[in-house]
Amino acid sequence: MIQQNDFSLKQSTLELFKKQFRQLPNIITRSPGRINIIGEHTDYNEGFVLPAAINRYAYIAVGERDDNLIHLYAVEYTELLVFNLNDLGQKKSSWTDYIIGIVDQLKQTRCKLNGFNLLLDSDLPIGAGMSSSAAIECATIFALNDLFKAKISKLSMVKMAQKAEHTFTGVQCGIMDMFASVFGKQNQVIKLDCRSLDFAYMPLLMGSKQMLLLNTNVKHSLASSAYNERKQQCEQGVAWVKEKYPEVNSLRDITIEMLNLMVAPKDPIIYKRCQYVIEENNRLLTACEALKKGDLVTLGRLMFETHMQLSKLYEVSCKELDFLVKQVKKYPSVLGARMMGGGFGGCTINLVETTAIPALVQILKPAYREATGLDLSVYAVGVTNGTETLINNTC
Ligand code: GLA
Repeated sequence: MIQQNDFSLKQSTLELFKKQFRQLPNIITRSPGRINIIGEHTDYNEGFVLPAAINRYAYIAVGERDDNLIHLYAVEYTELLVFNLNDLGQKKSSWTDYIIGIVDQLKQTRCKLNGFNLLLDSDLPIGAGMSSSAAIECATIFALNDLFKAKISKLSMVKMAQKAEHTFTGVQCGIMDMFASVFGKQNQVIKLDCRSLDFAYMPLLMGSKQMLLLNTNVKHSLASSAYNERKQQCEQGVAWVKEKYPEVNSLRDITIEMLNLMVAPKDPIIYKRCQYVIEENNRLLTACEALKKGDLVTLGRLMFETHMQLSKLYEVSCKELDFLVKQVKKYPSVLGARMMGGGFGGCTINLVETTAIPALVQILKPAYREATGLDLSVYAVGVTNGTETLINNTC
């Protein structure tokens, strides 16, 4: 079923490209979205994260041009936008930023570029906290790397995609989303140390359980300062601790005792933010131990705990996310649940007994509509491989 779906999306991307640009694409790539089991808002604090790539993708098809123009077409928006390689302009707050941000990064390498046609197709919901933007960036950089034979390593592409997000969308995001999109592996989660970028795969042994995503359909606007504000608050906390402990570099090096001494007297909000990050890193380490032992009950409990603290200490939840977590907590078939990603909307991730899913969804959908006036979307996702080139006619 999934393979059929994958095949037809690749095929339709090819056909749509042919129709739009009257040429065959040289390259088609696809890059997955991601879930994150636990470890939220820890990546930009040099902490740990536990993401996995999921079987929903951004597809990018590219074809050469013999001028300096960049023609971009997104199937979802049925719009064609034209840029000039020599003058990319500024951020436009549109889907094109993710692609132009990558071109801007490539221009800073020694690689020789030319104009190109590009088509974007995707089955990843936008703004749902599944990292559709990172998927677009990673699929684009893989495609252009192949098209222009730039020979950039996977890790460098991840870093360039993150930089593109910083410069072209203005979100000072961490590295988790791009890393998971590129380095994802079937049925494995990635335990990533965001300081050293060392990582290890761990099997996601789910037994009779499954990860279920519930989309609030509240669009999160990460760029809307709150994300960047959290990052600055964490940095302020580190700066205050550093006054007495110059050896610390990030919240990774800081203990609650240090916070009590150096941050508590200065600012209760910054204290809460830092406390959350320190505790979340510890929760992740405990969660990894639980996952290794197949102890999903402990994992689930830790997920609930993360949600509570994201909501109370880090204050990045919203009433729709809180409602969903509170509702599912009533059911013994749900072992754990929490908001996922940047916050202020998007999805919750739920660890659920597979056989209980249909009945749960049947109860939740009308309850959610009644409480919020919004529709609830449900995704049962599989864990998959990272960015791939599906067609390459340049060799
Ligand atoms: C967004 C960012 C990530 C990460 C998460 C929160 O998805 O892009 O880098 O910070 O929020 O964990």
